[in-house]
Amino acid sequence: MPSVTLTIDRQTVTVPAGTTILDAAKKVGVVIPTLCQFPGVSSPGSCRVCLVEVQGARTLQPSCVSTVAEGMVVRTNTKSARDSRRLSVELLLANHPWDCNACVRNGECELQALAQDMGITEVRFPYTKEKVPVDTSTPALIRDMNKCILCRRCVAVCQEVQGVGSLAPRARGFDTVIGTGSGDELGEAVCVQCGQCSAVCPVGAIYEKDAIEAVWAALDDPTKHVVVQTAPAIRAALGECFGCKPGTVVTGKMVAALRRLGFDKVFDTNFTADLTIIEEGYELLRRLKKALVDKDAGVSLPMFTSCSPGWINYMEYFYPKLLPNLSTCKSPQQMFGALAKTYYAKKAGVDPKDIVVVSVMPCTAKKYECVRPEMNGSGFQDVDYVLTTRELGQLIKEGGIDFLSLPDEEQDIPMGMSTGAADIFANTGGVMEAALRTVYEVVTGRELPTDGLHVVPVQGLEGLKEASLTFSECVPEWSFLEGVTAKVAVAHGLSNAHKVCERVASGEGGYHFIEVMCCPGGCIGGGGQPRSTTDEVRKARIAAIYHEDEGRPLRKSHTNPAVTEIYEEFLGEPGGHTSHKLLHTHYHSK
Ligand code: FES
Repeated sequence: MPSVTLTIDRQTVTVPAGTTILDAAKKVGVVIPTLCQFPGVSSPGSCRVCLVEVQGARTLQPSCVSTVAEGMVVRTNTKSARDSRRLSVELLLANHPWDCNACVRNGECELQALAQDMGITEVRFPYTKEKVPVDTSTPALIRDMNKCILCRRCVAVCQEVQGVGSLAPRARGFDTVIGTGSGDELGEAVCVQCGQCSAVCPVGAIYEKDAIEAVWAALDDPTKHVVVQTAPAIRAALGECFGCKPGTVVTGKMVAALRRLGFDKVFDTNFTADLTIIEEGYELLRRLKKALVDKDAGVSLPMFTSCSPGWINYMEYFYPKLLPNLSTCKSPQQMFGALAKTYYAKKAGVDPKDIVVVSVMPCTAKKYECVRPEMNGSGFQDVDYVLTTRELGQLIKEGGIDFLSLPDEEQDIPMGMSTGAADIFANTGGVMEAALRTVYEVVTGRELPTDGLHVVPVQGLEGLKEASLTFSECVPEWSFLEGVTAKVAVAHGLSNAHKVCERVASGEGGYHFIEVMCCPGGCIGGGGQPRSTTDEVRKARIAAIYHEDEGRPLRKSHTNPAVTEIYEEFLGEPGGHTSHKLLHTHYHSK
């Protein structure tokens, strides 16, 4: 690509043609304020907070959508640029409720931070906006359009990244509001509840439905036995709530904090991630046997993973015909809940009605998943409350815990024991890699060499990835796979899921097994993770997760001794009667 040389605030910079002035300025350490712009999605250029002076131009230019030109001279801090940007922020503040102290984003609001940086202490214009009711219609998300600044980041992420298009601007001019296409509340709209909108909202207009008070109430109740599970992705992101760099692993401190908050047992969703690999792996092998040996034309292949509740919602709304291709395995969160109130209750001698299961998840859709009617295999609601990573950060702060000074502690057994294969569930490609580690060893009876544990083609942030594996020297039980090449695919972000679903629906691809994660990057980029998740942040979290995996003594799900024990003591065999009752389910068209 040809390059372009220009001057920004008297500094010369050379960048590829097509670069925005905003990005060129970053290269020379000039920070131009922004609000509607967000990395990875297109900017509408609507907020006018990034205006700069370009020599020869008749008006100030929005730097987030204006591209560089050879010999361009840009000034970012002239009086007219400063005054115009200040006016843009003042106009936004004039239509914003001044209730910062009682706002969920207080201290973490981009509008508040801009006002502070610009020295704005009063607003010259009257508040004219009419109050509208707050939308609390979903179990996962709250929309308070009184606080919306019409930046359209939520619209862009919902349409461009997720391909769902649930949110859109409605009406025009002063009457513009961001709403669902139908005008209904979110609970009535086609929304997968992934929470990506809440992760990019710069203010307190969209956020997760808070379970913090309910969790405090359970912890304060002496008649309750409160157990907590933490998803694989939490440990590589929670530190960011306390000022750590993205990619800092804080597993030990997280466990210590949860104990000090009063949880009776600190367990790990990683345990049921390992169990998922066993159940899902055997389900795949049985489907392959039906297709290849029994020549059963009715068997649904390829099989899709089913860990991600936003992806399940997407299938139910957009591809109900492919639902038979979905693994019947519940997600690791829900497997954990069902086992906590059956297997663990019996082992610990606690009445399951007194057990409260709290999950810490990177995902707002998990709040929806736990109240689905299918999720009561234990005879109770299997998971009682879901906290996002952000909410756990808040809970720890409310608990007065000095997080960074905590010692490292370990999870409780048995449901806190796990392998490196479970760690990598956190990122795109991880479930596939974990499954292939186990399937290979089960089918061939041979141990994978340590340097063969990573399946490089399914790693990384490319939207749709493929790999294949040819079986050889199979053990007698799986000899029908001799010479068979299994083709797998991995997609993350629902617009990529759409591409793979279209291929499958039209009979293309020749896939046997497909991993889909709803959010970009997988769970490490979930809608409930600390905000400002860019690709750089995703890469740092993924690197940390692989580092965790590589440091583990056990790295394959079938080598987890606690998993072996639960089959011996309670479940019987993978896919057996008890497993089916507690760990599997079916979904329906919406
Ligand atoms: Fe450039 Fe909003 S950030 S116009």
